[in-house]
Amino acid sequence: MSKKTLTIRDNRTGKELELPIKEGTIGPPAVDITSLYKEMGLFTLDPGFRSTASCESDITYIDGPEGILLYRGYPIEELAEHSTFLETSYLLMYGELPSMEQCKGFHKVVSQHTMVHEQLLQFFSGFRRDAHPMSTMVGVVGALSAFYHDSLDVHDPRHREISAIRMLAKIPTIAAATYKYAIGQAFMYPQNKLQYTENFLHMMFAVPCDDYEVSPVISKALDKILILHADHEQNASTSTVRLAGSSQANPFACISAGISSLWGPAHGGANEAVLVMLREIGSIDRIGEYIKKAKDKSDPFRLMGFGHRVYKNFDPRAKVMRKTAHEVLHELGAEDNELFKIAMELERIALEDEYFIKRKLYPNVDFYTGIILTAMNIPMNMFTVIFSVARTVGWISQWMEMISEEGQAIGRPRQLYRGHEKRVYVPMENR
Ligand code: CMC
Repeated sequence: MSKKTLTIRDNRTGKELELPIKEGTIGPPAVDITSLYKEMGLFTLDPGFRSTASCESDITYIDGPEGILLYRGYPIEELAEHSTFLETSYLLMYGELPSMEQCKGFHKVVSQHTMVHEQLLQFFSGFRRDAHPMSTMVGVVGALSAFYHDSLDVHDPRHREISAIRMLAKIPTIAAATYKYAIGQAFMYPQNKLQYTENFLHMMFAVPCDDYEVSPVISKALDKILILHADHEQNASTSTVRLAGSSQANPFACISAGISSLWGPAHGGANEAVLVMLREIGSIDRIGEYIKKAKDKSDPFRLMGFGHRVYKNFDPRAKVMRKTAHEVLHELGAEDNELFKIAMELERIALEDEYFIKRKLYPNVDFYTGIILTAMNIPMNMFTVIFSVARTVGWISQWMEMISEEGQAIGRPRQLYRGHEKRVYVPMENR
């Protein structure tokens, strides 16, 4: 039987080193290079982490070519069909699906933490009303650590759990308050009799002077969006949370760092870009012109919401979202809306067009999410906020996994230095 090692040879010196290959349960194995610098005096260079696993994890598995996404081993399609966001959150945090009793207990404990300190609400008035909601999210979530001192000992598992539950419970309250503040409406307190997603919709859309009934269609669709975005392995924002947490920074500060990373258009901002594009296209008869632009190599324009770096056959989340988008548009009687008609026609043409078929450019999850959120009357600048509400449980689960690891060390990448060699200081008058 072949040994599970990789031998490397430095051709400058002839020195060889046998490195262990670690196998996961599924997916490509990884070469353990921790001894490389000590033994060979070499670093590895992999900007963008294209060939580098930054950690070992039991939480989420992605197979891009096969279009597979598993949370704790369960396919995303099955969770979206049969589970709820809160149940999926339990799964991500604790590793197993909850029993009926555990599920009820979890709902109860999360409900008990949905309110935020009254003074935290005052914090909002420091922001301009026209601030991007993500900037408010970064600030307010970071400020949680100033309010919940009693759960900040990262070495105490009970503290970690309380902070995790606080994060999960309070993030919809903060996200909804961000929206209410931007539009000048009163903050709505959470209602613990409601389910997690219903409560979020209530805080977003209810007003104190009227009754508000949560639409089951909208609530189910939003719940699915939250499930599909709950975790996605070691992406930029999750890696940011892990790196921030590796210095033993408190979890609220780490999640705030994750929100900052998610904000970037290359990460959480793509669903917003889809809507911008659909509005720019403006009418069905202009689709041909934009398809032409997308194929033209001298034109930087790309069809937003098409293609994916990891999923090359299809994005399993997009499959679920496509069905949900059609259901939501049908239920809301919004199928005749011009924007949605453009989206559906664009999808049809792109799926039949040789250029897109050959390059395996399928609609990704963001293509449909933007459409569904718009049908729900959620403004475009709140899309990434919704994403952050969903991803918080993924971030916090990854953070808990990292911090409870034995021998957990601060993340400290090295570099290939390309600057000046040592030189002598030049006095100002001689420069
Ligand atoms: N429209 C037109 N052509 C495209 C597109 C597109 N959206 N995406 C890729 N291509 C072409 C590209 O021009 C290239 O053609 P050729 O081989 O002739 O040079 C080929 O397809 C491969 O492109 P690539 O840039 O090497 O592919 P990538 O895997 O590096 O890029 C991507 C993936 C998602 C960045 C890219 O498809 C893209 O820019 N899509 C639009 C933006 C978007 O929807 N982003 C959201 C992704 S999902 C986010 C998440 O999961 O969180």
